[in-house]
Amino acid sequence: MIPNKKKPEVVQSIQWIDDHIRIIDQTYLPHREFFLDIFEVGRVWEAIRSLRVRGAPAIGIAAAYGVYLGVKDLPEDSIQPFHTDVEGICEYLATARPTAVNLTWALGQAVRLTHDMKDEPFSKVKEALLDLAKSIHEEDKRICADIGKNGQELIPKNAGILTHCNTGSLATGQYGTALSIIYHAHLGKKKVHVWVDETRPLLQGSRLTTWELEKTGVPHRLITDSMAAWVMKEKGVDLVVVGTDRVARNGDTANKIGTYALAILARHHNIPFYVAAPISSIDFSIASGDEIPIEERDTGEVLALAGRQIAPSDTPVYNPAFDVTPHELITAFVTEKGIIRPDFSKNLEKLRPQQG
Ligand code: MRU
Repeated sequence: MIPNKKKPEVVQSIQWIDDHIRIIDQTYLPHREFFLDIFEVGRVWEAIRSLRVRGAPAIGIAAAYGVYLGVKDLPEDSIQPFHTDVEGICEYLATARPTAVNLTWALGQAVRLTHDMKDEPFSKVKEALLDLAKSIHEEDKRICADIGKNGQELIPKNAGILTHCNTGSLATGQYGTALSIIYHAHLGKKKVHVWVDETRPLLQGSRLTTWELEKTGVPHRLITDSMAAWVMKEKGVDLVVVGTDRVARNGDTANKIGTYALAILARHHNIPFYVAAPISSIDFSIASGDEIPIEERDTGEVLALAGRQIAPSDTPVYNPAFDVTPHELITAFVTEKGIIRPDFSKNLEKLRPQQG
């Protein structure tokens, strides 16, 4: 539970309603709170791809519901074994976005469950896939609350905090990861002030994080990404805290483009740099960040701002959506199981889930 008297206005980015999911379409924020009802797997894929639903944990939750939406109307007497259908749907959903490991993590659970139930009737497997999605969703809420509680001890009583992208309720089941730490500190005894990086090109900081901090009453100020160094030097930033899309076994961390630059700036200014990471974002199959696939997105996202062209239309563009921060620049990870400090290779390994 969030401590203290006042509860934040908690946004539900994804809801399961009877036979479909309802998401808050994040592409309309902050201008409009528009809820989108999704009944089919193809629309789930599209919503993930276009960042209507975004943020690593939220992508995993949406995909888990997407598997159920993909199988629910399949005939129960299909000739091929049903796990082939489920694998096909999971392979398809996995193509929506490559970097956030929560997507393949959630899909992997669906595939495993289907294999474990290969001798059960398909109707039972369908029910179990919906239960799995609901439990991933509920579990994420608990995980985010625990990350928030665990991270509080890193926040001084009177703290200037810099964050990047959006890591709040919109990006998760509830509360968020890095933002959950900030909410918990704010709702406890601490006085926090958050510097919000706007996060070009898609402005998750200015469109989404400010919107969430406003709703929860956390004092904040918006800056453009290029102001971060100056703010660190002049304004008293006590810590940087960000989320992640994928952490390698050695602690190298993929997160929204611009995170790596912030980690370098933090090191230069002797400011601790924390990564809030649910264990579902740790990819135990890869040794280092070199193996993390980095999504490249449409050039139009850089050539235009708020629907208006800001460069000659034939300008060549490079648009990686994420970067990888080397583990040496990370002070600690905040997970639902506690704070993990270097040696990351050794200490992250202790969090590896045992396959039952
Ligand atoms: O492209 P996005 O908006 O999905 O990128 C999101 C991020 O980079 C977040 O920092 C990360 O997913 C963690 S969200 C708790």
